[in-house]
Amino acid sequence: MIPLHIDESAGPTLQVQIYDQILRSIFTGSLLPGAALPSSRELAREMKLSRNTVVLAYEKLAEEGYLTMRSGAGTFVAKPLPEACGGVLPAVEHIVTGTGRADVVTLPSSPKYPPVLLRSGALHMVQQGPSQHTVDFWYGSANSRNFPLREWRQLLIENLSRTSVNISGYGPPEGILELRQAIAAHVSNNRAIPIDPDQVVITAGAQEALNLVSRLFIQPSVKIAVEDPCYLGAALVFRSYGGSLVPLPVDEYGARTDALEGCGATLAYVTPSHQFPTGATMSKRRRFELLNWAEKSGAYIIEDDYDSDFRYDGPPLAALAGLNRNSSVIYLGTFSKSVGSGLRTGYVIVPRQLIEQMRQVKALANYGHPWIEQIVLADFINHGGFARHLRRIRQFYGQTRLALLESMKEQFGPVEVSGSDAGMHVMWTLPQHFPTAKEVAEIAASEGVGIYPIDKAGAHEIGPSRYPRALVLGYAVLSPELARTGILKIARGLERAGVGPLCSTRSGRLLRQGTRREASRLGAL
Ligand SMILES: Cc1ncc(COP(=O)(O)O)c(C=O)c1O
Repeated sequence: MIPLHIDESAGPTLQVQIYDQILRSIFTGSLLPGAALPSSRELAREMKLSRNTVVLAYEKLAEEGYLTMRSGAGTFVAKPLPEACGGVLPAVEHIVTGTGRADVVTLPSSPKYPPVLLRSGALHMVQQGPSQHTVDFWYGSANSRNFPLREWRQLLIENLSRTSVNISGYGPPEGILELRQAIAAHVSNNRAIPIDPDQVVITAGAQEALNLVSRLFIQPSVKIAVEDPCYLGAALVFRSYGGSLVPLPVDEYGARTDALEGCGATLAYVTPSHQFPTGATMSKRRRFELLNWAEKSGAYIIEDDYDSDFRYDGPPLAALAGLNRNSSVIYLGTFSKSVGSGLRTGYVIVPRQLIEQMRQVKALANYGHPWIEQIVLADFINHGGFARHLRRIRQFYGQTRLALLESMKEQFGPVEVSGSDAGMHVMWTLPQHFPTAKEVAEIAASEGVGIYPIDKAGAHEIGPSRYPRALVLGYAVLSPELARTGILKIARGLERAGVGPLCSTRSGRLLRQGTRREASRLGAL
């Protein structure tokens, strides 16, 4: 239901209030082109209004081109929207992300209010609430069952009873020293990034760090080289500040550095440890090429190391920020994947020449991160809880990852999977005899399993998709048993849809029967 606030005692008639509020929802992007509206009967009942009042408001909006009324089908926000509202005010650029893709469309400004200058729509990649699927391979969250609740509660109580001074006043905008020291020690030991705590600024996740960096460097006409495909949340932030994206195609060695030559970008955004979403690890050679490009062209690299706490095979390659002799890397880290995204805590590590500017921009944004979250996290790291927690969940995620890969092999034979050596997701490229990723995701959904083509998994491609056969499978929130069950259900759905041959070896068949027995034991079939 659309959130309408009708005030019978207000000046404008009820019909005008409905008209205004729907129009505002369209302008601000909370109602996207193509979105279905409740029927006039439903809305009238819900709002306790006469149906005629709603019908008249809908008809006026339809007359002006903002709504489409299709008899038998319902009422929808027009797609595309009219170019301008009676030509009164200039149009603003808007990015619509209903499909997970950042397509730019032009939205009209309201005739009555100042134009909305936001150049980005809502970020729909965040999945909220319980999943509709029995088994959901949604990527992005840590497993809630692994949250160190007892230790966290204890630290929270201890810190709250120790002092209330820190909650009553403002703290340093860059974050409390205890946490910045703990993070400096963590990245120095685990990512070989030797830094001073002064270089760390605590943020509300990597997402805020992307905003802070953008605020420092991006305005219309600034070019940002981004991996193609890249993390949608980054693409939308850069666009929201007016930046234009320069695509760096991705292959098995990470972002292609040859595309940087003469591209005019002053920033490059990369996920070298575990490229999002393909999972590729950037080769050493490309890492040095990227750093050399930044040094030569006077650009900054934004290194998003979002899931580097999880590496299963082989030693991690050194972070760009650790290889950086020339101070051109801005490093983003987050506790979303290791502890929990609800914590909303991450950090940005800046080269020395940016310490003061980053401090200032964080103060401008919100005067700093909540003290209690910071002190609990600092104690958790300093008392050894974080290292223990990481060891435990690495093992847990590692087991689920193995179960996932094994059962994919059992059900489908040799599979083309990338990114399995690290992180919390893999990308599966479907063989040619399979339907497209979108169709396979639909078949899986009909079996109660969530799997996601890359445009539905929080990734953004620039231009036509080069990955119509790619699916993202996150596995961190699943147990090994559930991961197996999910794959089995997908195989069963595909079999029903007549997709084959899947795995025809005798051992494969036997294993499949075994997995099926296990799944029915779990009551998942
Ligand atoms: C590649 C990448 N970077 C950044 C983020 C944002 O993380 P945070 O929760 O720390 O804002 C995500 C979230 O899923 C991500 O996948």
